[in-house]
Amino acid sequence: MRWQAEWCDKLGSPLYGSLLRHAAHDAERGGPVAAALAGREGDPLESMLQLRFMGAVHRLALAGRAPALARIYPSCGGSGDLRAAWPAFRATVEEHLDELRSLVMRPVQTNEVGRSRALALGFLTLASEAALPLRLLEVGASAGLNLRWDAYRYESGEYEFGDPRSRVRFRDYIEGPPPPALPARVDVAERAGCDERPVYLDEDGQLTLRSYLWADQLERLRVLNGALALAPRLPVRIERSGAADWLGRRLAAPAEGVCTVVFHSIVMQYVEPAERERITEVIAAAGARATPDAPLARLALEPGGELADLRVTVWPGGEERLLGQAGYHGEPVRWTVE
Ligand SMILES: C[S@@+](CC[C@H](N)C(=O)[O-])C[C@H]1O[C@@H](n2cnc3c(N)ncnc32)[C@H](O)[C@@H]1O
Repeated sequence: MRWQAEWCDKLGSPLYGSLLRHAAHDAERGGPVAAALAGREGDPLESMLQLRFMGAVHRLALAGRAPALARIYPSCGGSGDLRAAWPAFRATVEEHLDELRSLVMRPVQTNEVGRSRALALGFLTLASEAALPLRLLEVGASAGLNLRWDAYRYESGEYEFGDPRSRVRFRDYIEGPPPPALPARVDVAERAGCDERPVYLDEDGQLTLRSYLWADQLERLRVLNGALALAPRLPVRIERSGAADWLGRRLAAPAEGVCTVVFHSIVMQYVEPAERERITEVIAAAGARATPDAPLARLALEPGGELADLRVTVWPGGEERLLGQAGYHGEPVRWTVE
């Protein structure tokens, strides 16, 4: 929790930074936080128990079940008052112990639309190089909101793309040198995704996505709400499947006249090493069958250091390039100059 608190501070959530520090202290002293998490002390770090817990409490506030906390959480229209937050949080945990014990078993499920900022630059680069429509295949797609990246508006310095009236708008996020000239429009021939646990866009799924956002990060919430409102206009099927099997089916034969782009953002750390290897093998085998009329690309936004790396590999050829870097929630974006 203390490790997460530092990340929350760094990533612009002083509210969660403060609450997690209080929660850590409360857990050590055997308070309600300890009771809510009893039996889970040995959960592996990668399962993100601390964020499962914060999401579970946020869910209650968003659903109108924790009015005192909702009066503080900005995501629920609250004041954001840091001093009043902990007593309200602790009282909520105490009041809903049984439900929280079961809610914390749910995995963290997010769909970070802000990552479209960096992914869009990758798609536009590939469209420009291939001069073909894009066939987009996303693994670990969650609710598929980043598969709809071209429905969003991007403006940063000289660079702009997308419908100026879009409900999702990203502004001024590119730091350092601007990207090269990129196409003003792109044809997307197909979009499809898979996820081991897709999030469906019904009311419960939408609540799930909102609940794992951090309650004082209104810009992320605004972007998510915009993307959820746009989603029905651009239906996308997200198949419930592991990435390697799904790619095996999708990449069985080269697709002529399109540039097939397999992409993923912040997924590989959740995939077992054996499946990760299988994914790479399936893509490389399909890459070996790619031709200039049926090219294949892998676009990956995955952890680097303080920022995530945006890497691309294109076949025929198969050489990997670092295109740029992006914050874990999408901002800032830095373009790599070769
Ligand atoms: C941190 S989320 C990222 C979701 C989305 N890519 C984004 O950037 O918002 C990771 C996603 O990967 C999915 N996932 C994990 N292992 C997977 C696997 N082996 N095959 C397919 N999806 C997987 C999870 O269910 C989860 O939705």
